[in-house]
Amino acid sequence: MAKNTSSYVCQSCGNVTARWSGKCAACGEWNSITEEVTGGGVAAGPGRNTSKGRAVTLETLEGQTDEAPRFKTGIEEVDRVTGGGVVPGSAILVGGEPGIGKSTLLLQVSASIANAGLRAIYFSGEEATAQVRLRADRLGLTSAPVSLAAETSLSNILATLKREKNLNLLIIDSIQTLWSDSLESTPGTVSQVRATVQSLIRFAKQTDAALILVGHVTKDGQIAGPKVVEHMVDTVLYFEGDKGHQFRILRAVKNRFGPTDEIGVFEMLGEGLAEVKNPSALFLGERDVDSPGSAVFAGIEGTRPVLVEIQALVAPSSLGTPRRAVVGWDSNRLSMLLAVLEARCGLVFGGHDIYLSVAGGYKISEPAADLAAAAALVSSRSGIALPTDCVYFGEVGLSGGVRAVGHMPLRLKEAQKLGFNSAVVPLKDEKKIASSGISCCGIAHLIDLTVQLSQNKNGLASDFKLENSPL
Ligand code: TYD
Ligand code: MG
Repeated sequence: MAKNTSSYVCQSCGNVTARWSGKCAACGEWNSITEEVTGGGVAAGPGRNTSKGRAVTLETLEGQTDEAPRFKTGIEEVDRVTGGGVVPGSAILVGGEPGIGKSTLLLQVSASIANAGLRAIYFSGEEATAQVRLRADRLGLTSAPVSLAAETSLSNILATLKREKNLNLLIIDSIQTLWSDSLESTPGTVSQVRATVQSLIRFAKQTDAALILVGHVTKDGQIAGPKVVEHMVDTVLYFEGDKGHQFRILRAVKNRFGPTDEIGVFEMLGEGLAEVKNPSALFLGERDVDSPGSAVFAGIEGTRPVLVEIQALVAPSSLGTPRRAVVGWDSNRLSMLLAVLEARCGLVFGGHDIYLSVAGGYKISEPAADLAAAAALVSSRSGIALPTDCVYFGEVGLSGGVRAVGHMPLRLKEAQKLGFNSAVVPLKDEKKIASSGISCCGIAHLIDLTVQLSQNKNGLASDFKLENSPL
């Protein structure tokens, strides 16, 4: 019989050591190392197979390969994020904070697939079947032919699945509750998660059933458990959003069968998650039109334009070191932008607290948002409101120069659709398209933005003087 061996595994990064220590040498996390007893055979994996290898045929990159077949989930936003539907035999990991709506989304996906005549099974490890049924009732999905079980034992799950002939979709909610009896460690530990996910992926590949796994996230937003799980699956999706807001965003961070820059937008309503076809209208819904410090950014997510409001508040500070707080944007980019505004445009922000927030709980990662953030900051600092029907986009360099960004026609078309009449854009881009229904003002340098704003005073803040400003 194989001898039981102990190893010490970091629950944060999966690093294995022979001795316990308070701090993981690989990732630096404290108190994350636990002892895990392995039964020898399972954890040792295929490496123990000492039989002679078989030579495989080597192929070239050339040759005809068909597009991966897919089936639609019937929920358009999910299909968009997965790259046009779910690929049979693939594994998808969905991560997200507790209570964000993962179980709700997956119940809706399984019901939609089952209603389309495909076979879907939902294993819940966190809730009893009665609870899931109650949720289905709330969502109005009780008539969908989804098979349901509350089970956490891997061997029971696999035994149940053995009877299935044509399984299309298998949902496991969640991988942290699963356990395999061949391992002694508790559910949720690195070796349990790794071993159970491996078996399930093998099952999916053999039977051509698509596998969707739910994963918890840690405090800092990473999927809990070993990073190796993210490497094992074909697609990693994050379901994110602010619990104080209704919007939820499904974002692909890894996808072997499609793009990773698409997002799906949902709204959490009393009767479940509703798809949002026009996210811009949602994000701009509660815009404060006349107040200084608000600018609309015409952004792009994947192939889709998204208009969001960026708000800035610049207020005199009583603190020795003024506060800088950012929500939904990169704080390093804010520091850079402030330095550029001070050094290149003569605007002084020292002695002021600065808050920058992207409205609606949305997160911006595009550098094209620089110009909109700068406009919001300058507007708040000067007390002059920006024109309400204008959108901004452009990347700002350290010299203060405004650089061109991609997808200009898409951004402008979306802005026009939502009733905006003008756009402040990089000068180079303006030359590119002269014939759009929206009036474009091209600027080459941030200084042009401040000049433009000062012409827009409307007498309201005419007594205001930008300190040391060249205006
Ligand atoms: P849930 O899917 O259980 O989240 P997760 O699986 O990610 O932990 O969603 C729980 C939250 O969603 C809960 O706080 C209530 C809310 N909710 C609604 O607002 N409307 C609904 O129709 C449902 C089912 C849930
Ligand atoms: Mg859940």
